[in-house]
Amino acid sequence: MPPVIFAHRGSSGTFAEHTRAAYLQALADGTDGVECDVHLTRDGQLVCMHDTTLDRTTNVSGKVADRTLAELRALDVFSWKGASIPAEYGEPADQLLSLSDLLVILRRAGRPLRLAIELKHPSPFGLRLEEALIAFLMDEGWDPESSMLGTIEVSFMSFNPDSMRHLAESAPHHMLCQLVSDVSPKEVRAALSFGAITEGALITIMKRALKEGERLVDHQEVGMAGPGMRYIRSHPERVRRWIRDGVRVRAWTVNSVKDALFLAELGVQEMTSDYPARIRMAFEGNSK
Ligand code: G3P
Ligand code: CA
Repeated sequence: MPPVIFAHRGSSGTFAEHTRAAYLQALADGTDGVECDVHLTRDGQLVCMHDTTLDRTTNVSGKVADRTLAELRALDVFSWKGASIPAEYGEPADQLLSLSDLLVILRRAGRPLRLAIELKHPSPFGLRLEEALIAFLMDEGWDPESSMLGTIEVSFMSFNPDSMRHLAESAPHHMLCQLVSDVSPKEVRAALSFGAITEGALITIMKRALKEGERLVDHQEVGMAGPGMRYIRSHPERVRRWIRDGVRVRAWTVNSVKDALFLAELGVQEMTSDYPARIRMAFEGNSK
């Protein structure tokens, strides 16, 4: 079986991540599913963005959580990437997506799709993020037993084991994906922009979360594991064991054919990529 391919923040290698253009391109690329990160806005709306701050991907600085959805819609979320948006991919003002906007795009695609939602922590709203997401999905007609929303299969991911445990009260076990990554100084520095905490304290928290996340996967309290490429290369035996034990593995971020073939050899069933067409083509004609 070829791997299931998810477009990471849309086809974010081509267009600015999380924009309408990136997701429309992902559908044109023939992706099986899309990944998105979600945060809560000041007015309690779910918005598709990766960072807790606006600095890297918009024309302003400050925190996502300090703005309303309407205020975020007024920002330029695509110019930083340097790729202009084709007219058929919407107006500049339509590029920022709420989760609700993303659902409309997926429903219009007219084919079964998978939606992998990553809950971003630490959130200033704590686990109210999870509660808001479940309430939103229920409102949209999501079935908590199958995790289907019409023909869209919804799965949930987080690096935060508390998020997984909280979601386990509402969502099926096989749709919960514990993300795992070895702690890197770069990520620690990025996370530090969230608030006042020392680097040492943050490293301790992140290492503890990783250990707990690995425990959730080992004990199959979640049905899926989401390791990054660096983690897989450092711990191939653990990943192999998870697969042998029946855990589904969703790897990120798989941007080269070499990585994709290495993962397929390992038995990894799902791959998240900034270039879904490239990864899809690597397996085309090889669907045994
Ligand atoms: O798909 C999981 C992956 O997206 C986790 O890392 O930083 O890209 O959200 P990040
Ligand atoms: Ca993500």
